[in-house]
Amino acid sequence: MRAEGPQQPIDFSHRAHYVADNLDCEYCHSTARRAALAGVPALERCMGCHRFVATAHPDVGKLTRYWDRRAPIPWVQVSVVPRFVHFTHEAHVRAKVACAECHGPVEQMDRVAAAHDLTMGWCLQCHRQRRAPVDCLTCHY
Ligand code: HEC
Ligand code: HEC
Ligand code: HEC
Ligand code: HEC
Ligand code: HEC
Repeated sequence: MRAEGPQQPIDFSHRAHYVADNLDCEYCHSTARRAALAGVPALERCMGCHRFVATAHPDVGKLTRYWDRRAPIPWVQVSVVPRFVHFTHEAHVRAKVACAECHGPVEQMDRVAAAHDLTMGWCLQCHRQRRAPVDCLTCHY
């Protein structure tokens, strides 16, 4: 499945990295277990490999220039809920809801695309199935 998400500043492919190294999602999205945001990896994490690996690839060249300038990469976020919605990864990871249930088979995607519209109906359907809380104040303060 070659998902058609938005073009990113660097052509990072989950599929290629999964095939090459079978990395765990939380190796890069390390705050998912303990915070609201899953987080994108620090460049240091990428450079741990890319100081040595695929250094001739033009997009690895771009990555290295961001690193040299200590500039963050302006990744385009695909999954976003409105500000008035309270969402947290932590509760879901702890309840063993798999990343793929909400994000689809990311490890098969070259460019991450949204797998679901993140509507209230979608949230509630699963919350009812799993007996998770459905009162308004769970998701709206
Ligand atoms: C554990 C080692 C490792 C880490 C960590 C890693 N990469 Fe890679 N990366 C690879 C390997 C191996 C390839 C070559 C894959 C191939 O050619 O199929 C690669 C390929 C690439 C390419 C070339 C295009 C492609 O998809 O083949 C880009 C761009 C890239 N990585 C960006 C990144 C970025 C950005 C990060 C950090 C978010 C990162 N990599 C983290 C090992 C790593
Ligand atoms: C080598 C580091 C690395 C690994 C391993 C990795 N990711 Fe990512 N992930 C990234 C980077 C960098 C981005 C931002 C660029 C992009 O969207 O491709 C990202 C973006 C995402 C997004 C898009 C977030 C949004 O804006 O909606 C999702 C979802 C995601 N990753 C899920 C996963 C899942 C699930 C796994 C495990 C199967 C995984 N990632 C493994 C580095 C990684
Ligand atoms: C219950 C559904 C659900 C699960 C499970 C889930 N996510 Fe998300 N994810 C979302 C939603 C909703 C957003 C948008 C959040 C926002 O706008 O604050 C999001 C946003 C993201 C983002 C971009 C913003 C950020 O949080 O940094 C990344 C990266 C991401 N998810 C990765 C993952 C990974 C990796 C896993 C598994 C460890 C995972 N997600 C599990 C629903 C989920
Ligand atoms: C695929 C299933 C699934 C989806 C989709 C889902 N959730 Fe959840 N959610 C759960 C489960 C399971 C729990 C854990 C309930 C528990 O710990 O008792 C949970 C817990 C939560 C909690 C913490 C509740 C608490 O009081 O601890 C919040 C907040 C939340 N979800 C918001 C959302 C929002 C907002 C969305 C949609 C953007 C969403 N969820 C989508 C399954 C899901
Ligand atoms: C499990 C999480 C969750 C629960 C519980 C929840 N909502 Fe929502 N709500 C959302 C999300 C996500 C959105 C934004 C996406 C959308 O508009 O569908 C939203 C949007 C809304 C909106 C804006 C709709 C619009 O069209 O702009 C209203 C109003 C609202 N919710 C009211 C409620 C009320 C009242 C309750 C209790 C009966 C409730 N919500 C319970 C997740 C939730």
